[in-house]
Amino acid sequence: MTTTDAPWWRSAVIYQVYPRSFADADGNGIGDVPGIRAKLPYLHRLGVDAVWLSPFYPSPQADAGYDVADYRDVEPLFGTLADFDAMITDAHELGIRVIVDLVPNHTSDEHVWFRAALAAPPGSPERARYLFRDGRGPDGNEPPNDWQSVFGGGAWERVIEAEGQPGQWYLHLFDTRQPDLDWTNPEVIGEFHSVLRFWLDRGVDGFRIDVAHGLAKDPEMPDLDGRFPADGQAKLGHPHWDQDAVHDVYRGWRRVIDEYPGDRVFVGEVWLESNERVAEYLRPDELHTAFNFHFLRADWNAESLRSSIDESIRTNHHVGAPVTWVLSNHDVIRHVTRYGGDDVALGTRRARAATLLMLALPGSAYLYQGEELGLTEVLDLSADVRQDPVFLRTGGKELGRDGCRVPLPWSGSAPPFGFGPGPDTWLPQPLFWASLTAEAEEADAGSTWSLYRAALAERRQNAALGDGTLEWLDAAAGMLAFQREPGFVCVVNTTSETAPVPAGIVGELVLASDPTATATVLPPDTTIWLTT
Ligand code: NOJ
Repeated sequence: MTTTDAPWWRSAVIYQVYPRSFADADGNGIGDVPGIRAKLPYLHRLGVDAVWLSPFYPSPQADAGYDVADYRDVEPLFGTLADFDAMITDAHELGIRVIVDLVPNHTSDEHVWFRAALAAPPGSPERARYLFRDGRGPDGNEPPNDWQSVFGGGAWERVIEAEGQPGQWYLHLFDTRQPDLDWTNPEVIGEFHSVLRFWLDRGVDGFRIDVAHGLAKDPEMPDLDGRFPADGQAKLGHPHWDQDAVHDVYRGWRRVIDEYPGDRVFVGEVWLESNERVAEYLRPDELHTAFNFHFLRADWNAESLRSSIDESIRTNHHVGAPVTWVLSNHDVIRHVTRYGGDDVALGTRRARAATLLMLALPGSAYLYQGEELGLTEVLDLSADVRQDPVFLRTGGKELGRDGCRVPLPWSGSAPPFGFGPGPDTWLPQPLFWASLTAEAEEADAGSTWSLYRAALAERRQNAALGDGTLEWLDAAAGMLAFQREPGFVCVVNTTSETAPVPAGIVGELVLASDPTATATVLPPDTTIWLTT
């Protein structure tokens, strides 16, 4: 049960803003910080507790801002530090907390440190901030090991030395323009403590930590030798994911954040196969929370949802951390499409049901911009507009993540759907989004937006929701039913048949993902909330 003195992040609903695609104030077709500021009243009406902003720092945008050239400023495309300060002031006035994204595994190749490293000789302190190594083979022509980039291709790039000859190689677990930092170097550690303080001093309420499981590397840098899958999911013993040394980094960060008043929070992006290993990042002197990608990956059926829920609660509660829930973000296929494929009506039904399930679970929840409108993944972007390095580095074999990053439709009946004052958007919007604009949905009591707003309002006023525990109730195959105290029950029908509410569950209908549901009968793919 939620207690009034529990930190806000144990039960918060946090809305992810992907700045390029949220709202464009200056008309260049790319979202920006003044755009975010202008839409804060919208987020307030929706009822979110906090926003998490994906990177908005100066960056050549080789990975949409996850390639940071300067950790202490705002990318000119997105605005200025003064715009950021004005935005956070307004957010706080509306009671919305602000979490910013920190990208510590790698910098941009345009970061002043990397430029200095390229200009300096092998063995220099400038190179020691990154992972430069000599190549293998007689002329050092072969990369130092067989590690692969998450974005496709090898993870090493060879540089040209000052004399004009090919020389050392540097590690980039992502794009070539994202060189990995060496987290054994005290200068790197000190720099990030200082960056944390820079944003904490500006009033941020927390940090989302990019690739939080990737910072420490096995110093021997052994070959993978085909022992691990190349999908970024770390298995125990992996030489560049989830190395034990990473925990000391977060212990240091925790000491920094704990100096600041007001329940500031870390949320780690920790993609690991084992829930137990994720929970280790949440020990009391490390991160407060981490994303729970197991729930996001669960199929739409009662069995896999329940086992992911049970497993997440069991492991997190073991270390005293709340569970976080998430269904979509800027790296995965939007959940309407994940659950329904081409069948948008089916995907939308399931997505609405999944959302009500998620928002009834104990812990905090993350929403990804546009899911409150029921947006689909845009699958038919042409190759010439795609910008994700995943698409570019795999020669188009993998479509990449542009499809979930299309600029939001705000209003009107044709692109750019009120995204900004200019005619363009950096990725084209589908015409059928005309019925999914924020303007249209706010005016429609039956819209997905209205469902989200009602669910968030209920979470705010119902003490049973948010942090705490759940108790499973008996339910037929394909259904889930659980109780939250005091007096709240959630029932989910994941099947394609109409089904009765399980015997013994009697309550008043508070909210339903399908308007034809009642307190006793659930249509296919439906979730209901009852007060009992
Ligand atoms: C995870 C981020 O969510 C993703 O968008 C980015 O490409 C990689 N980390 C590399 O920073």
